[in-house]
Amino acid sequence: DSVHSPTFKLQLVELIPLHSPQERNVYFPVFTEKLLVLTVATQETDGFLRFMQSANYFNYTIKVRYMFPDPWLSTPEPEWRGGDVGRSIGGGQKVRLLKQAMEGLADQEDLVVLSVDSYDLIFAGGPDEILRKFQEANHKVLFSAEGLIWPDKRLQDKYPAVRSGKRFLNSGGVIGYAPFVNQIVEQWNLHDNDDDQLFYTKIYLDPQQRVKRFGLGLDLEVNVLQLSLAADEVLLKFGTERVRVRNTVFDTLPVVIHGNANTKIYLNYLGNYIPNAWNYERGCGVCNHNMVDLSQLKEYPTVLVGVFIQQPTPFLSEFFHRLVTLDYPKDKLKIFVHNNEVYHERHMQRFWEESKDIFNSFKVVGPEENLSQGEARNMGMELCRQDPGCDHYFSIDADVMLTNKQTLKILIEQNRKIIAPLVSRHGKLWSNFWGALSLDGYYARSEDYIDIVQSKRVGVWNIPYMAHVYLIKGEVLRNELTERNHFVLEKLDPDMALSRHGIFMYITNRHEFGRLISTANFNTSHYNSDLWQIFENPVDWKEKYIHPNYTQIFTENYLEQPCPDVFWFPVFSERACDELVEEMEHFGSWSGGQHEDKRIAGGYETVPTDDIHMKQIGYEKEWLHFIREFISPVTLKVFSGYYTKGYAVMNFVVKYTPGRQSYLRPHHDSSTFTINVALNSKGIDFQGGGCRFHRYNCSIESPRKGWSFMHPGRLTHLHEGLPTTNGTRYIAVSFIDP
Ligand SMILES: *[C@@H]1O[C@H](CO)[C@@H](O)[C@H](O)[C@H]1NC(C)=O
Ligand SMILES: *[C@@H]1O[C@H](CO)[C@@H](O)[C@H](O)[C@H]1NC(C)=O
Ligand SMILES: *[C@@H]1O[C@H](CO)[C@@H](O)[C@H](O)[C@H]1NC(C)=O
Ligand SMILES: *[C@@H]1O[C@H](CO)[C@@H](O)[C@H](O)[C@H]1NC(C)=O
Ligand SMILES: *[C@@H]1O[C@H](CO)[C@@H](O)[C@H](O)[C@H]1NC(C)=O
Ligand SMILES: *[C@@H]1O[C@H](CO)[C@@H](O)[C@H](O)[C@H]1NC(C)=O
Repeated sequence: DSVHSPTFKLQLVELIPLHSPQERNVYFPVFTEKLLVLTVATQETDGFLRFMQSANYFNYTIKVRYMFPDPWLSTPEPEWRGGDVGRSIGGGQKVRLLKQAMEGLADQEDLVVLSVDSYDLIFAGGPDEILRKFQEANHKVLFSAEGLIWPDKRLQDKYPAVRSGKRFLNSGGVIGYAPFVNQIVEQWNLHDNDDDQLFYTKIYLDPQQRVKRFGLGLDLEVNVLQLSLAADEVLLKFGTERVRVRNTVFDTLPVVIHGNANTKIYLNYLGNYIPNAWNYERGCGVCNHNMVDLSQLKEYPTVLVGVFIQQPTPFLSEFFHRLVTLDYPKDKLKIFVHNNEVYHERHMQRFWEESKDIFNSFKVVGPEENLSQGEARNMGMELCRQDPGCDHYFSIDADVMLTNKQTLKILIEQNRKIIAPLVSRHGKLWSNFWGALSLDGYYARSEDYIDIVQSKRVGVWNIPYMAHVYLIKGEVLRNELTERNHFVLEKLDPDMALSRHGIFMYITNRHEFGRLISTANFNTSHYNSDLWQIFENPVDWKEKYIHPNYTQIFTENYLEQPCPDVFWFPVFSERACDELVEEMEHFGSWSGGQHEDKRIAGGYETVPTDDIHMKQIGYEKEWLHFIREFISPVTLKVFSGYYTKGYAVMNFVVKYTPGRQSYLRPHHDSSTFTINVALNSKGIDFQGGGCRFHRYNCSIESPRKGWSFMHPGRLTHLHEGLPTTNGTRYIAVSFIDP
C-alpha cells in the first residue's frame, strides 16, 4: 500500500512503466529489458513530453524523478538548483538524485542504467541497440564524449590520447552496469550547485579509477549519445519505418540525440522526423496523436479572436467577410480588433455595424488610442488570459486570407499549445513561419522549409518562429505564457517575440488554409483602392473583381453571340462594376461629350461620349493588364488565329443619361476590336440603352451588368448606342489594337 501513499514520491523515484500510464505508481519495476533509463524532470515541458513520447515508442523502461509540484506531494523537493529550471538539467543536484536512485539498484548486477537529461533529448533507437553498443564498447561505465574540454581546460593533458573520436568527457549521458554506476555516484558529497561534469571528469582522469576500478570509457565516436548538434555533423537518415540521425563525422547512428540551449531549435527540427514523426513513405506518424473531436464536446470552446490591422491592407472587407463566414458558432467567438489605420475606419465601422450582434462580444481599439503593435497584441492576449472562460486565443492579422472556413476547428482539433495554419504568399515561398533561426535570431532557411511551404511534406511541424495567424490555448496563457508584456519586452519585431519562450510552436500544412496578401504598394489615395491591386495581389483581385462564371467561358463555352461576330461574355463581378462607377463618380470630371477633347491626340473627337478616361484616374496600366490577362484569352477563343497585342489607347467609362448625353450616333471604332462592358443594370439603374449593329439590323437591348461585348471595330460593325431613357447607364469601353 506504499504505492498509494501520498508521500510515496517523496521517498521513491517514480517509475513510468511501458504503455500503461495508469500504472505510474508501481514501485519496483519488473525489468523486461535489462536497460533502465533514469532521468529527472523539473517541469512537464513540451521537451519532456517529447522525450517520453519517443521513449514510449521504443518501449524503454524509465524512471523519472519528478521535481515539479504534484498534488501527491505534501512537501516537494526543494526548488531545483541544478541549473536553469526547465531548460537544462545539470549540476550537482542531478548527481545527488542519481545517487539516491542508485541506492535501490546497487545489487542488480545485470542491470544497465542510462542516466540522461529529459529535456531537449530524443531517442532515435531502441533499448536493444543501446545495450548492444554498450556491450561492444566493452566498458563497465561509458560517458558521452565531446570535442571541447569543459569546465577546466587545464585538465586537457591528463586526458588519454585518442586515435579518433571526441576526446573529452561530457556528463550529459552516463551508461553503465548498476553496481559500478552506484560506486561512482556514491562518491558524491558536494553541493547541489557544484559541477557534475568536473566531478565525473576527475574520476575519469584518475587512471586508478578509470582503468583498474571501473573500466570507464567515452562514447568516442558517438555511437550512443549525440550531444552537440552541430548541423554540419549530423544529418537525417530516412528509412521506410523510422528516421535516424547520422553522425557524418564518424558515420555512426547515435541512439540518443541531445540538444542544448543553442541547438534546441535544430533538435526541434530533427524531432519533426525522428524516430517516427515523419518520413517519405508514411508521411506524418504523429499528427493524429491527442486530437480533440469537437463533435464529441458538449459545447464548442470559446475563442477570443484578436484581429490586427497594423497597416493599410487591401481586401479588408473580404477579410471581414471570411471572419464572419468561418464555420464556428458565432456565440462562441469574442472579437477584439486593433485597427491602427485611420484609412480603415470606414471599413471597420461598416463591419462593426453589420456584425456586432452576431458575435458573443465585440471590442474595437482604434487608431486614436495610439497603441504600438506590441501593446495591441499584448492587450488582445491579455483579454483571453484574464478571462477564465477563454479557451483559445486566435490571433489573426488582416493580411491573412483564410479561404478554409474550417480553419479554427481544424486548429482546435489538432490540440497543441500553440499552433498556426500555414499560409503563404500566392506563388511565393514567403510564409508565416520560419524553419530555422540565424544565430542572431533572424530568418534562416531550414532544409525542409520549401517542401513544407509547397506541401511536399505534410504534417504538423515544430518551428521556431511564426507570425500573422496562430491559436494559443487559454490555459497556456494563464499557466505558462504568463508574461503580460510578451510582445513589448523584446526590442525586436513584435512577431518574433513569440519564438522566445520554450513552449513548442507548431505549424500545420495538413490542410489548405489560405494565403498571405501583400500590403506593399497599397496606394490608399483612391476611392476604391483595391481596384489597383491587380499586380500586387492578383489572386485576391481576381476573386473580388472577375465574374464568378468567367472561367466557364473556356470550360463550358459560357458565352453568347447575339449578333454576327458580336460576342457576349461575363467578365466583371458586381463589385468590380460598382467600384469602377464609384471611382469615376468620385473623380467626377466627366468630359461632357464635346467634340473638342484635350485628352486625345489632335484634340478633336468626331463621335464624342460623356466619359472619363482610365488614364485620368491613374488606372491605365492596371486596365491594360486586365485586358491582357482576361480579355486576350477570350479574343483568342472567338477570333482564333488572331493574337491581340492587348494594346489600347482609348480606355474609358461612358455615362449615358437623359439631360446630358443619352445615346451615341452610328460610328466605327478606331480599333481592331472593341470591348464594351455594362457596369450597371437595365430596369434597376436605367431604362432604355443597348447597342445596335446596322449591317446586321441587330440590336441588343438588354445589356447585362458585368458582361462585355467584343466586336470588330471598323468596317463591318457600324454601331450606335441606343438612347437611355431614364436613370444613368455606365459602360466601360476599350478600343483594342488601334
Ligand atoms: C513496443 O511494445 C508494443 C507492445 O508490446 C509493440 O507492439 C511494439 O512493436 C513495441 N515497439 C517497438 C519499437 O519495439
Ligand atoms: C503616439 O505614440 C508615439 C510613440 O509612443 C508618440 O511619439 C506620438 O506622439 C503619439 N501620438 C499621439 C497623437 O499621441
Ligand atoms: C497614389 O495614387 C495617387 C493618385 O493616382 C498618385 O498621385 C500617387 O503618386 C500614388 N502614390 C504612389 C506612392 O504611387
Ligand atoms: C453562373 O452560371 C450558372 C450556370 O452555369 C448560373 O446558374 C449562375 O447564376 C451564374 N452566376 C452568375 C453570378 O451569373
Ligand atoms: C430590322 O429588323 C426589324 C425586326 O427586328 C424588322 O422589323 C425590320 O424590317 C428590319 N429592317 C431591315 C432593313 O431588315
Ligand atoms: C425613372 O426612374 C425613376 C427612378 O430611378 C423612377 O421613379 C421613374 O418612374 C422612372 N421613370 C420612367 C418613365 O420609367
